[in-house]
Amino acid sequence: MAKILQRERLVPNIHLIEVYAPEIARKCKPGQFVIIMPDERGERIPLTIADWDKEKGSVTSVFMVVGTSTNKLSNLKAGDEVPVFVGPLGRPSEIKKYGTVLCAGGCYGIAAIYPVARALKRAGNKVITVLDVKANYLLYWEEKLRAESDRFFVSARDSFYDCRDYIPRTLRNIIKKEIEIHRVISIGCTYLMYTCSEATKPYRIKTVVSLNPIMVDGTGMCGACRVTVDGKTKFACVDGPDFDGHLVDWEELFSRRKFYFEDEIQSLCHWERKYFP
Ligand SMILES: Cc1cc2nc3c(=O)[nH]c(=O)nc-3n(C[C@H](O)[C@H](O)[C@H](O)COP(=O)(O)OP(=O)(O)OC[C@H]3O[C@@H](n4cnc5c(N)ncnc54)[C@H](O)[C@@H]3O)c2cc1C
Ligand code: FES
Repeated sequence: MAKILQRERLVPNIHLIEVYAPEIARKCKPGQFVIIMPDERGERIPLTIADWDKEKGSVTSVFMVVGTSTNKLSNLKAGDEVPVFVGPLGRPSEIKKYGTVLCAGGCYGIAAIYPVARALKRAGNKVITVLDVKANYLLYWEEKLRAESDRFFVSARDSFYDCRDYIPRTLRNIIKKEIEIHRVISIGCTYLMYTCSEATKPYRIKTVVSLNPIMVDGTGMCGACRVTVDGKTKFACVDGPDFDGHLVDWEELFSRRKFYFEDEIQSLCHWERKYFP
């Protein structure tokens, strides 16, 4: 059992969970993830490690409420325990001195990209952060990310910020204006990572995405997280989750992610009827 130290709603639909897991906090690196099970009868779901504190022994993830498991997690509180919290899983993100790196994040990816941006900055890169939100009130961790960025942009549809464009156009505008961008990292929903990859392709800027296929065991045993990259079969949990976005078979990923759609809707309806009759 792992104890929850904090569970907080950051903005509507997006929550932070901090769990006491000293072994994971001691070993984890940017880009890795944990598998959490909200209760004894629940399912195992992967969440990216968004931050950690070695001294406190805690690991933080930020999640978007989409279905039964994330709904269950959003109802937990400090002091509760979860039966499964394993990690760190996956290969860490590749962190080197590339020059100028653009970090593009949206929804839960705003938090997930934070440790990557921080490590890239510490490795001596110039970091440009671009965050995408549907509306201003959905932005969180702004100060944390600004602190790790040389330049900071927000794309919000009702913008008080820099622009109202969806992130790929913002990216293209920045690429055209900047002297040279050596690498792009994109984390968030599948569509955001796909469109970021498409936006950078004509400029041949290496674009790394953190793939989010359905995962079960997270250790390369079940095959659920199979993706095709550069024509080869990969298991995202052990070979990734980071891959070159220009080489991913996105159509396959979109279709495999929808595989259990009917069951997921039924499960959520069942859960809602039970808890909100
Ligand atoms: C490596 C990795 C890291 C991730 N990091 C985060 C994160 O930091 N924050 C966050 O909010 N989300 C993250 N996700 C996605 C998260 O795992 C899903 O949103 C979650 O599993 C949905 O579960 P649910 O029961 O609430 O929703 P469901 O109703 O069961 O599913 C909703 C949708 O989520 C996806 N999904 C369902 N089950 C899984 C599963 N076991 N594994 C992966 N995707 C699934 C499917 O596409 C599905 O259509 C990550 C996924 C992966 C693979
Ligand atoms: S989640 Fe089972 S092989 Fe990757």
